[in-house]
Amino acid sequence: MADNEKQNSMNMAPIGVFDSGRGGLTVAREILRQLPNEKIVYFGDTARVPYGSKSKETVIRYSRQIVRFLLTKNVKAIVIACNTASAFALEELKREFDIPIIGVIRPGAKAAVENTVTKRIGVIGTEGTIRSAIYSEVIHEYDREAIVLGKACPLFVSLVEEGWLHDTVTDEVAGRYLSEFKNRDIDTLIMGCTHYPLLRSTIMKTMGEDVFLVNPAYETAASLKRLLDKNGIASKADLIPKPEMYDYYVSDAPGKFIEFARSIMPIEIETAAQINIEEY
Ligand code: DGL
Repeated sequence: MADNEKQNSMNMAPIGVFDSGRGGLTVAREILRQLPNEKIVYFGDTARVPYGSKSKETVIRYSRQIVRFLLTKNVKAIVIACNTASAFALEELKREFDIPIIGVIRPGAKAAVENTVTKRIGVIGTEGTIRSAIYSEVIHEYDREAIVLGKACPLFVSLVEEGWLHDTVTDEVAGRYLSEFKNRDIDTLIMGCTHYPLLRSTIMKTMGEDVFLVNPAYETAASLKRLLDKNGIASKADLIPKPEMYDYYVSDAPGKFIEFARSIMPIEIETAAQINIEEY
């Protein structure tokens, strides 16, 4: 292949996006909105979800298998949509694989630092993400004086999976978890888990409108755009999103995944293929 043909096929290659399950579709959705001419191959590890309560070693092993799988789809870059996998596995994967890989933590942390005035930032996420203290670590790279308060909110994932986005039970759970931040003067809260942006209105109601909510999914799509441009691998085609530009793979039966995807993706999803991720 001539050099410019090779470059062209690289530009047209899809972005690999992966998550522990379906929540990462909140990131795929932002990529679709902000980079409408990019193709996506999405993998949701629906057989092994949740990652939030698993050990670092296990999450790294799972993530490594997923990257190997995505490479068979000739992706040009990889986005780790899962906060827990970003927290535990990003650095390791970057060392092991020769492909641009980004996670959701740094873009979210950076946006929080840019927004805060009080320099007091709250972070909510899975047990794994909060235990890793990764948001705090990255925030301190940008601002050593910032104070970071973390709180694991594991039930939020189940409430979203159950579809209880606007429900008195969800209000009650949010009230309990977020009371941790009462009188702590935080002006910025990072929704550090794939599912939490879907609870935005409940979280906002509980925290009050003065607290700015950072959606790492949104920030990551913006950061992906810069990464593609910097590496000269952005799609130059004049495409508009069509179902055939998005391929979905899962590790368990796809029924529930498709149902969830239909409720949040702005374009139709027809199928998701089930694969055996343990083979990779
Ligand atoms: N995707 C996970 C995250 O963003 C949440 C679900 C899970 O625990 O696997 O951390």
